[in-house]
Amino acid sequence: METIPNLAGKTVLITGATDGIGKELGKLFAPTGAKLILHGRNPRRLSSAIEEISKETGNTDITPVLADFSSLDQVRAMAENVQKTTNRLHFLINNAGHYPNGKIITEDGFEQTLQVNYLSPFLLTVSLIPILTAKDQSRIVNLSSIGHRLVWHNIKDPQMKFFWRWVAYCRSKLLVIPATRELAEQLADTNITVNCIHPGIIRTKLIRMLPLSWGNSVHEGAKTVLNLATNPEFDHVSGKYLEKEKIVQASAIARSHKLQKSLWRVSLRWAGLNTSKATIKPK
Ligand SMILES: NC(=O)c1ccc[n+]([C@@H]2O[C@H](COP(=O)([O-])OP(=O)(O)OC[C@H]3O[C@@H](n4cnc5c(N)ncnc54)[C@H](OP(=O)(O)O)[C@@H]3O)[C@@H](O)[C@H]2O)c1
Repeated sequence: METIPNLAGKTVLITGATDGIGKELGKLFAPTGAKLILHGRNPRRLSSAIEEISKETGNTDITPVLADFSSLDQVRAMAENVQKTTNRLHFLINNAGHYPNGKIITEDGFEQTLQVNYLSPFLLTVSLIPILTAKDQSRIVNLSSIGHRLVWHNIKDPQMKFFWRWVAYCRSKLLVIPATRELAEQLADTNITVNCIHPGIIRTKLIRMLPLSWGNSVHEGAKTVLNLATNPEFDHVSGKYLEKEKIVQASAIARSHKLQKSLWRVSLRWAGLNTSKATIKPK
């Protein structure tokens, strides 16, 4: 029997909750008593996922929030909506992600995978810091990937001149790691922790694009994320990269302090945030 953490009175936001790991995570968080805010990009898919989660778990305290992560304006609007829904967020699970079909430059001028998998979660997270900040603990969990080990970064080329699908995917997941480390440093004297995770190879539509037909179930994948988000073992752990349940060393480039600092500066600029403010430290 799996232990269900008691999260009554807590609020959880899961992005990309319409499929795969995110939807399963909704099913794992629902019986904890937490209030759920579930994100999707498609209204029909989102209401059907919420209906399925409510039916299976009996938790009807679920608020939908929409945004296509290919649009920074939609992410900004989503952050505002979340803050209208709640003035306190305890868990932010940055799970939404895609594997590209081909090269697309978004309306904001970025290669789409970079924007959906890295820049939009960055903007969302920074925008939600005010409601994550409190006297009690909050946790941010970012979905990275073991694939980050296969690539180098190129933050000077956000339109990816030479496009290769798996490189675009792995690079976007690489950037999640230095951004997590920098955010952890900036939030060191707050009650917010931030970590990132490779949940294992999980049989979802994303992994079928690779194409891989093997892997663990979505339940196994979601359990690793729930564990990082709720296990007291990680109460004081921040800035780490996990593969499944274990804290491991990310690749050398993912741990580069120089990349961490320049990525933070460039991400603020890309996201249209005030670049004179190199930190997001809450007051
Ligand atoms: N599966 C794996 O083996 C594996 C391994 C390492 C890391 N991960 C990471 O785990 C996370 C979840 O992946 P998954 O395997 O569960 O994939 P999935 O089944 O394809 O689910 C991805 C979720 O992200 C949403 N999404 C995709 N594009 C979006 C966009 N433009 N705007 C907003 N939402 C968008 C999807 O919405 P729709 O339902 O509308 O498509 C869906 O809810 C991803 O960040 C992925 O990189 C997965």
